[in-house]
Amino acid sequence: MRIENSVALVTGANRGLGKAFVDVLLQQGVKKVYATARRPETVAAHDERIVPLRLDVTSLEDIEAVVAQCADVALLINNAGIHNRGVGILMPEAVSSAREEFETLVFAPLVLSQALVPALAANGGGAIINVLSALSWLSLPGTETYSAAKAAAWSLTNGLRQALRGQGTQVLGLHVGYMDTEMTRGLDVPKTSPLEVAQITLQALQQGEIEVLADQVSAQLKQGLSAGAYLQRG
Ligand SMILES: NC(=O)c1ccc[n+]([C@@H]2O[C@H](COP(=O)([O-])OP(=O)(O)OC[C@H]3O[C@@H](n4cnc5c(N)ncnc54)[C@H](OP(=O)(O)O)[C@@H]3O)[C@@H](O)[C@H]2O)c1
Repeated sequence: MRIENSVALVTGANRGLGKAFVDVLLQQGVKKVYATARRPETVAAHDERIVPLRLDVTSLEDIEAVVAQCADVALLINNAGIHNRGVGILMPEAVSSAREEFETLVFAPLVLSQALVPALAANGGGAIINVLSALSWLSLPGTETYSAAKAAAWSLTNGLRQALRGQGTQVLGLHVGYMDTEMTRGLDVPKTSPLEVAQITLQALQQGEIEVLADQVSAQLKQGLSAGAYLQRG
């Protein structure tokens, strides 16, 4: 997909990776970007091509209102996310925490993608970027429910890609390890800059790719999926 002169919609565009996507889209000549957020007043509208819109991705009402205003969208970036870090899988609150994460990370992008499929088709097919994670392939103590949600979102991304092939919509999954955003505040680990991740991803999109492994961690984990350790022992 070509970004220049296209119209994009980014969820969770007020900070972190979502804001980085908006900035890189502007650099690459986007015509307009709907920078959506739960609190649109927190979106930095430093360029006239930025259109802040209210969108809590878990609200059907908000989704309907946004879809009605964004018939010209050709690129949807499902970025908004939460991570209830530290809620271990055996804690009593794990189930409610998992439901909350699945609502935001799995059902919301599915509902929003479905709702925007006609607009994408009407605008030449366009593209969807789903922000996934290296944790789509790894569960750590305290990340189990987030990892499960990202694994489900990865699978939905693959399903969506097949379902939308006929209308020419490119569906790209982005996997990345730690990024330097609010989500990883307090974690003392090497982190990639969200701006760099947005740049790598949008470049890959323009080259027709369907998956981005934006750092070493995600590349190594994906490779590890075919290591066959269980078969070797068994
Ligand atoms: N940081 C990492 O290391 C990392 C690694 C892999 C993948 N990811 C993924 O990258 C994406 C962006 O995360 P980030 O690192 O930029 O984290 P972040 O700085 O915490 O930003 C999260 C964004 O999602 C928004 N959001 C959360 N719930 C929402 C909802 N119901 N409706 C609309 N917006 C909502 C937040 O809005 P508010 O300001 O209103 O809270 C914020 O804009 C997420 O999908 C995350 O899972 C992050």
